[in-house]
Amino acid sequence: MSWGLISEMGHVAIQTTDLAGSLFDATQLLGLRETDRADGQVYLSANAVHHELVYVESSRNGIHSLGLIARDGDALKEIRRRVDAENFAIVSERPLSLGVEDGFAFVGPEGWIFEVYTNMLKADRGLLSFGPDRYGHINFHPQDVRGMMEFLRRIFDFRLSDVIGDDFAYFMRCNPDHHGIALIKGKNTFHHHAWQTQSIADLAKLGDRLGAAGRELIWGPVRHGAGHNIAAYYVENSGAVVELYTDLEQIYDDNRPPIVWGEDENWWNMWANRRTDDFRTFGIPPVDHRF
Ligand SMILES: [Fe+2]
Repeated sequence: MSWGLISEMGHVAIQTTDLAGSLFDATQLLGLRETDRADGQVYLSANAVHHELVYVESSRNGIHSLGLIARDGDALKEIRRRVDAENFAIVSERPLSLGVEDGFAFVGPEGWIFEVYTNMLKADRGLLSFGPDRYGHINFHPQDVRGMMEFLRRIFDFRLSDVIGDDFAYFMRCNPDHHGIALIKGKNTFHHHAWQTQSIADLAKLGDRLGAAGRELIWGPVRHGAGHNIAAYYVENSGAVVELYTDLEQIYDDNRPPIVWGEDENWWNMWANRRTDDFRTFGIPPVDHRF
């Protein structure tokens, strides 16, 4: 199904100063289930795989690493060849996380650590009464947003789905999902990880759970222009934003040209022009765990 070297978004690994609080959010608010645990790392999943989210107990909140699934062993080798050709620093010659067959990790632009691997173990979905279908995408804010876009294209074969303004934002895909990675020009912070669900009613139920826990949505539900998804957002314990979405555009034409939006054109909410002022101020930085 995938034309590129990356077949699927794999997972996000988040360092958290409050592991219990982060696990409460992931299991009780979002609806993920714990699948594995070792050495201060807790693995969680919504799908029938070993993990889609990892929390790493730490003295600092931040992004530990971003996991991507290579299409197969040959794709993994080709990515490694490209990474070495550009002299990116290798963090690990083996996968950082449990539950995958083969892989490595390196430091990409602006300090973001990418873990690339093949063949994640399957896991029983269990009998959860609520929760998303699967992990979908991430959104982060590089300072050099064009540089990050070109890096993702060059090393991993990501393609452009939508382009906003003059080097303001890029939505990029590795499979039919409109975006696996969205980049918005900013201060080099991670903004959100996003989870697919079946129905807008699930977004309302998320709002109900947040309300019952004395928490709140920070934005949404909205209908995005870029990607067409209906989305709602809250801030998790680590400081990262979490998105629950449904009805994301699926792109089956591999050569669909990118849709281009003016920066001030309303690409963020087809239902209203107004935006919350502080939405983009949330987030957490990348944390280089070698130090
Ligand atoms: Fe998103």
